[in-house]
Amino acid sequence: MNALTRDLIKLTDIAETQGAEKEEKLLFREHFHLMPPVGWLNDPNGLCQFEGVYHAFFQYSPFDAEGGVKMWGHYISDNMLDWKYQGVALYPDQPFDCHGVYSGSALVEDGKMYLYYTGNVKLEDGEYDYIRTGREGNTVLVSSEDGIHFGHKKQLMRNTDYPDDLTCHVRDPKVWKEQDTYYMVQGARTKEDVGQILIFTSKDKVNWKFKSRIESKEPFGYMWECPDYFTIGDKKILSASVQGLEGGIWEERNVYQSGYFEVEGDILSSYKLGEYKLWDYGFDYYAPQSFETEDGRRIHISWMGMPDCEAYTNLTIADGWQHCFTLPREIYVKDGKICQRPVRELDYKETITKTAENKLQADSCKAYDLKIDKIQNNQFCIALAEELLLEYTDGRFRMRFTDNRKTCVSAGRDCRYVETDEVTNIRVIADVSSVEVFVNDGEYVFSTRYYPDKYSINVQAEGADICLAEIK
Ligand code: FRU
Repeated sequence: MNALTRDLIKLTDIAETQGAEKEEKLLFREHFHLMPPVGWLNDPNGLCQFEGVYHAFFQYSPFDAEGGVKMWGHYISDNMLDWKYQGVALYPDQPFDCHGVYSGSALVEDGKMYLYYTGNVKLEDGEYDYIRTGREGNTVLVSSEDGIHFGHKKQLMRNTDYPDDLTCHVRDPKVWKEQDTYYMVQGARTKEDVGQILIFTSKDKVNWKFKSRIESKEPFGYMWECPDYFTIGDKKILSASVQGLEGGIWEERNVYQSGYFEVEGDILSSYKLGEYKLWDYGFDYYAPQSFETEDGRRIHISWMGMPDCEAYTNLTIADGWQHCFTLPREIYVKDGKICQRPVRELDYKETITKTAENKLQADSCKAYDLKIDKIQNNQFCIALAEELLLEYTDGRFRMRFTDNRKTCVSAGRDCRYVETDEVTNIRVIADVSSVEVFVNDGEYVFSTRYYPDKYSINVQAEGADICLAEIK
């Protein structure tokens, strides 16, 4: 351990202890969503199930609720809902990661956990734009025998190992194995400001060779972050968090997007990317990552937040923390469509408190699962905490806050929508300061943070079955 690591451990400990002392007063802390102990959280990293136990690492800045140098915080869980904090797994303490242990992934093999991440370095003493010059994106490997202690960091690649038509922005390795070959995808921005995904291959997890790249036919944004690739049923899914989409429909959406392309053909040789579809249509969703459970489910977890967003904020900053993850979701295919549903483990935490037809009203419940089934002719209106409405008009399902002042429930959020002919069912998973809405069995999902001063649920849906379960 070097002197910097030692001091970072001490400082993190002080920040977390001070955060814990405040715990009682923290109004908006979630009950079953993963949050930082103190300070700032962004992307999920290194998601995996290792010897039965779920591991979730996260981009963590404990010293400042509005961000700062990133490290990997670490949680474990038996059910993906109750998370136990394990401290910081990776500190920014080496010359190749001193401005941030950026995002990456886990590979589990032969009783070992391998973590791949990007070591971010910003050079000083020069005229740099930090896009084309002045930044390093190093690919680093660290492994663990027990999933708790992490060994020596090994720098595997640096910018000179990436194609030379790229800017310095190359990052977020996601690694998997097929037959006897390891594959790694990384997000990239070309010198012409086009977002791409790079593919590297390796036979030994350590020596990697650039193999090829994936891009859309027409330029689509200037940077693709946090790439992921997996199959679900007979579908091949290429996921990317895209920056730089402007004009047309993008004007009514978030500043950055997270979505996926269905891939036809072989990503290594000849392929065609389908239409880019959003994973989530809500306000707070970015940089998701997937992993496969030991029982074969494809789980997806995202940061329930949005970078570089001026329009809205989070009222937890005053309490010294910001952001959380989405509820882990199972990805599945229904009628040929990619859908998402909350992990089935949630069922064990629920107690049904009310069932009704047509109408349901409840007060003061902060964490719940609300199901509205058999919706007739798109007729429904749902109001949460009086100011968050879910409604359907003119061919659009909407999530809409009635008041977008930054100091109220919405903290500045206004409206998000998706065009659809029919809404047949809606499922709302609410925690203290978050709402995730699954429409039509999760064909569309909307996630948002919200900050109620009075909790209430009002559902009107003539002819529908309504069920409310409290989540413990
Ligand atoms: C996405 C991202 C990643 C990067 C990390 C840094 O939100 O920008 O590309 O690795 O966050 O925290």
